[in-house]
Amino acid sequence: MRHSCMDVCVCQGVLPAHADPRGELSAGQLLRWMDAAACLAGEKHAGVSCVTVSMDDIQFEEAAKVGQIITIKAKVNRAFRTSMEVGIKVGVQDVLTNVEKTVSVAYGTYVAKPVGAGKVELEPVKLLSAEDHLEHSLAIERRRIRLGYFQIFQNLMQESNKEDTFEEEDAISIELTHVQSIELVLPPHANHHGNTFGGQIMAWMDTVASISASCLCHSYPVLKSVNMFKFWGPSFVGDCLVFSTIVNNTFQNSVEVGVRVEAYDCEWIKDQPRHINSAFLIFSAVNDKGQLLPFPKVKPTTEDVMRRYHGAIARRRIRLTRKCILSAKGDKPSEPWDRSNQVIYMCLMFQALTHLAAKPGWEITRTLDDVSASLWRFRPMTRNRPKIIKTRYYKCEAREAFGEYSLKGEALSGNYSILKGFYQGLCVCATCICRTCEVLQAVSEEEKIYYVMSPPTRGYEPRDFVILVSQRQPCKPDEPYTVAVRSVTLRAMPPSPEFSRSEVLCAGFQIHTSTSSSCTVCYFNEVTSGVMPYLAANLASSSKSIEDTALECIKFLEMKGCMY
Ligand code: COA
Ligand code: ADP
Repeated sequence: MRHSCMDVCVCQGVLPAHADPRGELSAGQLLRWMDAAACLAGEKHAGVSCVTVSMDDIQFEEAAKVGQIITIKAKVNRAFRTSMEVGIKVGVQDVLTNVEKTVSVAYGTYVAKPVGAGKVELEPVKLLSAEDHLEHSLAIERRRIRLGYFQIFQNLMQESNKEDTFEEEDAISIELTHVQSIELVLPPHANHHGNTFGGQIMAWMDTVASISASCLCHSYPVLKSVNMFKFWGPSFVGDCLVFSTIVNNTFQNSVEVGVRVEAYDCEWIKDQPRHINSAFLIFSAVNDKGQLLPFPKVKPTTEDVMRRYHGAIARRRIRLTRKCILSAKGDKPSEPWDRSNQVIYMCLMFQALTHLAAKPGWEITRTLDDVSASLWRFRPMTRNRPKIIKTRYYKCEAREAFGEYSLKGEALSGNYSILKGFYQGLCVCATCICRTCEVLQAVSEEEKIYYVMSPPTRGYEPRDFVILVSQRQPCKPDEPYTVAVRSVTLRAMPPSPEFSRSEVLCAGFQIHTSTSSSCTVCYFNEVTSGVMPYLAANLASSSKSIEDTALECIKFLEMKGCMY
C-alpha cells in the first residue's frame, strides 16, 4: 500500500520518566505524544502552524509498560474548509516478543492558523490508497457526529432530568473529590508561536482528574476514556491555567471526573478568566491482582452538582450505546433506534456501504447484453452472504439520477429520478421485494424510516423489514451520490406473528458521474444469514432471486426509457 509523504509516524520508548505509579505509560504523556504527532501531520498538509480544535472520544484498550515501544501514526483524512480531521493510531510493541497491540484509535480536528493572520482555507487531501478513499468519505460522517454532539447531549439531558432516580443510601458526598490546580504555561509547553499545545493541556487535565478519582477508590486510577471535547479558545506562554475538577458520578467500576480549564493572563487578578475547555474523563481502578475495584455511590448535594450527575449519565448513555452499535457483529438485530443514535447510525451505514463497495474480489456473475447491465457478486471467504452490485449507465446527470424520491417510488420533488424509477421497479417486482411500504418516521430531510412488507414465497412465510434510508449529496464533484439502507429496531413496530422480521445489514446505491450527461448507478445488498435460507431456496428453485429482482428492475427502467 502506498503511503502519503504527509503521514507522520512517531516511535517512542516508554521510559520510567513517562510512567505512572503503576509502572505503566501515563495517559497524559500518551495524549501529549498523540496530539504532537497529529498536529505535525496537520501542519505538513496545511503548510502553516495548526491548533487543536477538538478531540473525539478517546478509548485506551491496552496499557504500555516501561521498556515497550509506542508507535503513533497520524494522517490527515480530510480537509474541510479551514479545519481537517487527523486520524491517530497508537500501537504498543513488546521488544522481547515483538508482539504488537492496538492501544487506541482516535480522531482530532485541527485548524490551520498562522500567527497574526486569520484562518486559511486548506487544499484537499491527495488520496492514494483505497484506505485513503474510505477514511476520506467516513470523515464527513464523523464530522456530523462531532458537530451534532452538543445537541444530542442537550436532548438527553432534558429527558434524564424528568426521570430523577437518585438513591441516597451509603452515598458519599461529591464535595470530597474537589481538586484545583494551577499551571504556568512556559515555552516548552507551547509551539514556536507561544500557543499552548492541546496535548499538554490534556496531560495536565489527566493529572488533576486522577487525583479527584483517587479520593474515591484509594488506589491509582487508570484513565480508560476521554469524552469528546472542544478547545474553545487559545492559551499562551505566560498564561496561568486553573484546572478545577470534581467527580460528577460513579458507576459500577468506573468514575467520571469533569475538568474545567480557565486561563488568566499575567494580570489575572483583575481579568475575567477565559474558558479554554471542559472535558470528562473516565477512570477505573484495579487491585494488585488486576481485578476491577467498585466505586462507592456519590451524593449530589447542590443543584449544579445534581445537573452534572445527570450529565454524566447522559454522556455514559451516548458512549455505551455507540460502543454497542459499533461492536454489533453482523447478524444481531440492531440496537433500538432513538434520535440520540441518529448520527452514529448514519456513520455506520455509510461506513458499511463504502467498505462493501471498496472490497476487492467482486466478480461478474452475469452479463446481460440485451440491457447491457452486469451483476456482480462478492464471495467472502468466511461468510456466505450474497452481495450484489449492479452497474448501469444512464443517460442523465448523476444529480438528476439521485433526485428526490421516496421508497414508494413517489417523486418528492424535482423531475423523474433513476432512484425513483428503481424503487418503482422494486415495487413492480413485488414477488420478491416489497408489497407495501410506508414511512414510519421522517427523521430529517435526508433520513427516513420505512416499514416494508414482502409477500410469502413457496415454503416461506411473509417477511417484513424496518429500514432506515439515508441519502447524501457529494461534497466534492468526484464523490458519488449515496443512498444507504440498513435495518433498525423500532419499539413502535415490534415483530408480529404474521411476518418473519428480517434484517438488511447494508444496502444502497452509489451514483457516480461518468460524463457530464451520464452516470453509473451501483446497487448493493448485504443481508443477514437469517435471510439466507430464503434466498437459497429461491436460487435453488430458479425462481426469483435478488439477481432476478435486480434484472426486473433494470428491465422496468428500460421500459421507462431512461437507459441507453
Ligand atoms: N469539532 C471539530 N471541528 C469543529 C468544532 C468541533 N467541535 N467546532 C468547530 N469546528 C470547526 C468548524 O467547522 C470550522 O471548520 P471548517 O472551516 O473546516 O468548517 C473550524 O473548526 C473553525 O470553526 P469556527 O466556528 O469558525 O471557529 P472560530 O474561528 O471562532 O475559532 C479556533 C476556531 C480554532 C480558532 C478557536 O476555537 C480556537 O482558537 N480554539 C483554541 C485552539 C487552541 O489553541 N488549541 C490548543 C489548546 S489551547
Ligand atoms: P458543566 O458544569 O456543565 O459540566 P463546566 O464547563 O462548567 O460544565 O465544567 C465541566 C466540569 O468541570 C464539570 O462537570 C465539573 O466536573 C468540573 N468543574 C467545573 N467547575 C468546577 C469547580 N468550580 N470546581 C470543581 N470542578 C468543577
